[in-house]
Amino acid sequence: MKNFVFYNHTKILFGKDQIAAITGEIPADSRILLIYGGGSIKENGIYDQVIDAISDFEYYEFGGIEPNPSYEKCMEALDVIDENEIDFLLAVGGGSVIDATKFIAAAAFYEGEDPWDILAHSEEVLEALPIGTVLTLPATGSEMNGSAVISRLEYKEKLAFSSPELLPLFSVLDPQVVESLPKRQIENGIVDTFVHVMEQYLTYSVDAKVQDRMAEGIMLTLIEEGPKVLADPSNYNAAANYMWSATMALNSLIGSGVPQDWSTHSIGHEITALHGVDHARTLAIVLPGTMKVMKESKKDKITQYAQRIWGITGNSDDEIVDAAIKKTIDFFESMGIKTRLRDYYIPVTIADEIADRMEQRGDVNIGENKLVGIDEIRKILEGRY
Ligand code: NZQ
Ligand code: ZN
Repeated sequence: MKNFVFYNHTKILFGKDQIAAITGEIPADSRILLIYGGGSIKENGIYDQVIDAISDFEYYEFGGIEPNPSYEKCMEALDVIDENEIDFLLAVGGGSVIDATKFIAAAAFYEGEDPWDILAHSEEVLEALPIGTVLTLPATGSEMNGSAVISRLEYKEKLAFSSPELLPLFSVLDPQVVESLPKRQIENGIVDTFVHVMEQYLTYSVDAKVQDRMAEGIMLTLIEEGPKVLADPSNYNAAANYMWSATMALNSLIGSGVPQDWSTHSIGHEITALHGVDHARTLAIVLPGTMKVMKESKKDKITQYAQRIWGITGNSDDEIVDAAIKKTIDFFESMGIKTRLRDYYIPVTIADEIADRMEQRGDVNIGENKLVGIDEIRKILEGRY
């Protein structure tokens, strides 16, 4: 196992009707900016519960954060913060709203010319406004990590950044929110979570047994509970298991002390930036290619995954790898998510464009061994495997 520092201070308020409890979690006398998305919270009752909980505070609202939140929209919030002397941000939404809130929190203290440099030039976030979240869509883990992904529409760029300063103070996880989710978002949430686990698990072994078995536990839970949640989003226990899986998949725990890949995410973000495909769907397109193209360096872990998750045994390594990839594709498809570029009407020529963009930005030689270079990116996307 590698050396690691594990630090996560986000307080989780999990369970039925926990939104009311935020009253006691927000620092006294805070001037709150409530940040939300396109308005689903006004239809499913979450907005009313939040307003009830913060009614004794001075609060303002900033709505309209888009899925794949934009830099442009986030920047509008900075004026509202200045004008109203906001000192606490309350994000109510999915990964997009929480990520946008993190960028706004960092941008509010940014002293350089353009806060985009936090993303484009990896400028360190040294200070940020405090954040609390009410999660409405289990998927990204953003509610318990310090990461965010922001798009700059003008440049067709989608970039990630992170800082411990951006860990939420608290997050409410009420599984009842799953009931109002469109099926497509549940499909996305299950597959995004599964791939988060794979990015931290399917690398090379460092004999980290706790991390491996926790990762496998999350994947097995998703395989077991995913179909139940899709069949009946009001199944509270299934929703609770799905929700906690999503948070546990990306709160640093299973990634501590192990190598991490993240090349599938980097390539996937390019597909979203260029074609607007939902984040999780890009991962379902890219992961099978990553497994196949990088199979030599991932062989031991793919074999472990094949055996422990899918009960696959075989005569040769190639047979096992192929069977594991097929099972993974079948799982994504059974969750309603297609896995080929052509399923999204995207020409395979995008492979060259993405490889060039990533090379120009210096985003090549990625993955746990820095072996995913421009040729590998192309092969992964062309599906030449
Ligand atoms: O805009 P609203 O009205 O909130 O509607 C949203 C949105 O249209 C809707 N929704 C959310 N909760 C709902 C609901 N509709 C009905 N009932 C509810 N309870 O769902 C739609 C999608 O929401 P979004 O927040 O975009 O989805 P998700 O949580 O999947 O977030 C995706 C974003 O997170 C980034 C992705 O790149 C993408 O931009 N990620 C962030 C990560 C992180 N911070 O650690 C890691 C991930 O790998 C990912 O990259
Ligand atoms: Zn993801």
